[in-house]
Amino acid sequence: MNLVLTGSIAFDYLMTFPGYFSEHLLPEQLDKVSLSFLVDSLTRRRGGIAVNIAYTLALLGERPKVMATVGEDFEEARAWLEEHGVDTSAIKVIPGKTTASFFVTTDRSQAQIGTFFTGAMAYATQLSFTHLAQRPDLVMISPNDPQAMVIYTQECRQLGIPYFYDPSQQIIRLNREDLRQGIEGCQALFSNDYEFSMIEEKTGLSLDAIRASVDFLIVTRGEGGTDLYTDHGKVHIPVIKPHSIADPTGVGDAFRGGFLKGYMNGLRLERCVQMGTLAATYCLEADGSMGHSYNLEQFKSRFREHHDDQGELDQLK
Ligand SMILES: Nc1ncnc2c1ncn2[C@@H]1O[C@H](COP(=O)(O)OP(=O)(O)OP(=O)(O)O)[C@@H](O)[C@H]1O
Ligand SMILES: [Mg+2]
Repeated sequence: MNLVLTGSIAFDYLMTFPGYFSEHLLPEQLDKVSLSFLVDSLTRRRGGIAVNIAYTLALLGERPKVMATVGEDFEEARAWLEEHGVDTSAIKVIPGKTTASFFVTTDRSQAQIGTFFTGAMAYATQLSFTHLAQRPDLVMISPNDPQAMVIYTQECRQLGIPYFYDPSQQIIRLNREDLRQGIEGCQALFSNDYEFSMIEEKTGLSLDAIRASVDFLIVTRGEGGTDLYTDHGKVHIPVIKPHSIADPTGVGDAFRGGFLKGYMNGLRLERCVQMGTLAATYCLEADGSMGHSYNLEQFKSRFREHHDDQGELDQLK
């Protein structure tokens, strides 16, 4: 199956402030805020939704293709992704631009102040599925430049390419009509529970109406597990408890990567969700969204500690 992943590619700059923001935000001075926090650690990480999903797929033996825009500072990250099995041939460098960057500072109470610089991601609208050497069989549309997300959904509908819609963080930035069309035209919708409430409120579509218009709907509920909705009703898939939790960053993306591995190999949906669940658990156990590492054999044997797959996972290549 020729799957194309679209979504953000970014660098994350993570800082920690050894104090409390709340002690420095003076309510009577909010109209002239001028603050600088001296931070004592800075980590730079490769991130972005599309590459996070791709990373898990690559661990599971696929060679996923990502279509996105990046800046001139991307070359080292490209080499790293290629080395880890990701096809970066459809990742386009925008001359003179910087890769999208997320700067976030966390204080002692885990309060965060962040800023996302869109950079080269703002040029994602320039990309088109018609420019690819091979027509995709399936496209994943994940958070990206909001206009690009709208264009990609329209293009998929015009070209008759099925797509999975994962609007997540960009629900806030998509208008009611665009969000509605994105959902009504998709083959499947992925969302966490909080985002799903936002979708219902913003589009005015009920869960039943959405379920009726898609092949399936997946709502993840953090440690509450996942609900899979199809025409046959709802199936709940509980989480696989992690040995320890290092960092939740990217857990939703890892879930999607694990799910897609099963889906691309023709496994039934419930099995795919179980795979997503384990891929998410691995991600939770390591720092960062691409800090975890395993191979397909290790994945299969850990999966079988929790589920009797009747040999179905042997179909995975
Ligand atoms: N504490 C946990 N323990 C085990 N599994 C978890 C836990 N939290 C999340 N998961 C798994 O990850 C899946 C996705 O989690 P969640 O619903 O939090 O996604 P998300 O909010 O989109 O995450 P992200 O922060 O990456 O956007 C869940 O359905 C579950 O399978
Ligand atoms: Mg998410």
